[in-house]
Amino acid sequence: MLVLGIETSCDETAAAVIRGGDRSILSHRLLSQVDDHRPYLGVVPEIAARVHIEHVDRLVEEAMAEAGIRFGDLAGIAATAGPGLIGGLMVGLMTGKAIAAAAGKPLIAVNHLEGHALSPRLMAPVPFPYLLLLVSGGHCQLLIVEGVGTYRRLGTTIDDAVGEAFDKVAKLLGLGYPGGPAIEKVAESGDAKRFALPRPMLGRKDCHFSFSGLKTAVRQAVTALPLPLDLAAVADMAASFQGAVADVMADRLARAIAVFHGLYPEARHVVIAGGVAANRTLRARLTETAEGAGMALLAPPFWLCTDNAAMIAWAGFERLRLGLTDALDFAPRPRWPLDPTAPPAGFAGVKA
Ligand code: KG4
Ligand code: ZN
Repeated sequence: MLVLGIETSCDETAAAVIRGGDRSILSHRLLSQVDDHRPYLGVVPEIAARVHIEHVDRLVEEAMAEAGIRFGDLAGIAATAGPGLIGGLMVGLMTGKAIAAAAGKPLIAVNHLEGHALSPRLMAPVPFPYLLLLVSGGHCQLLIVEGVGTYRRLGTTIDDAVGEAFDKVAKLLGLGYPGGPAIEKVAESGDAKRFALPRPMLGRKDCHFSFSGLKTAVRQAVTALPLPLDLAAVADMAASFQGAVADVMADRLARAIAVFHGLYPEARHVVIAGGVAANRTLRARLTETAEGAGMALLAPPFWLCTDNAAMIAWAGFERLRLGLTDALDFAPRPRWPLDPTAPPAGFAGVKA
């Protein structure tokens, strides 16, 4: 079963071909738009949509050529249909629909988050259910992946996503965009104990996250320093911030593992996915937490953690083999939660 995947939900234009049966990735092409958005220190939706239009056809052609196949050889075409920036989603989904219509093949409208959630199964046959920590620029959730299309949300952020916090703190420190990799790099030479930053939500009984207070604490600490910031101060602040995030994530993960154990005593796998899962310090810390609780932590390779089309093709394959295909009039969705039944985080005075 050969599946073409197309991803255009944010600032990466990507196309990939996988063979589901034996988990082979025949090709994966990706154009990062980072340079187009860097001057604005964040993703500009209009620019993103235009860049997707300019490049998606070529990337699909290249992915097909590298895989050495024709559209007629495909079992299905999987395109990200949400959640994400509507302009980009329209470009990728329309491209997928056009190929599906022309080749007479089924379309699979993939939820981008499901792409991240199922991505570890492209590497190894990880059994359901597993606990998923999904941490990216737009999302920060703990979910139980019970099966394809069946997700139970245990926790979410009540304000910023963790990747967003990395990006905002990087901006405060003058480290540019995207912030996560920049903070990780400078933090290597920093002293994580120099600045005493708060650990929001630590010890709470639920599994939610909050990062805006931590970001504000960084801003206040930076304001108290003499300007211009010297290199050591930037490195120490980056390390202190990353250390605080690691403490919070480890605590929240431990809490979620306890809940997961209560529901599924036999399950043994924790998976981290999303761009922030590329962070080595966080991975190491979360591995310790999981192993301490008798669980194995699986993290996809770095390139598969950040946005890509191979995970979309894989999610498409998982749905296709269950007979889950979509009509050609499927509309892109800017919002599309994996667990629509999850209650909002619902704290007094805090947006959910
Ligand atoms: O999954 P992703 O590529 O796109 C979204 O769906 O959001 O995640 C991008 C996010 C950005 O916020 C970026 O700063 C963060 O992941 N990120 C990192 C690292 N690499 C990327 N955060 C911390 N450490 C990293 N090494
Ligand atoms: Zn993503």
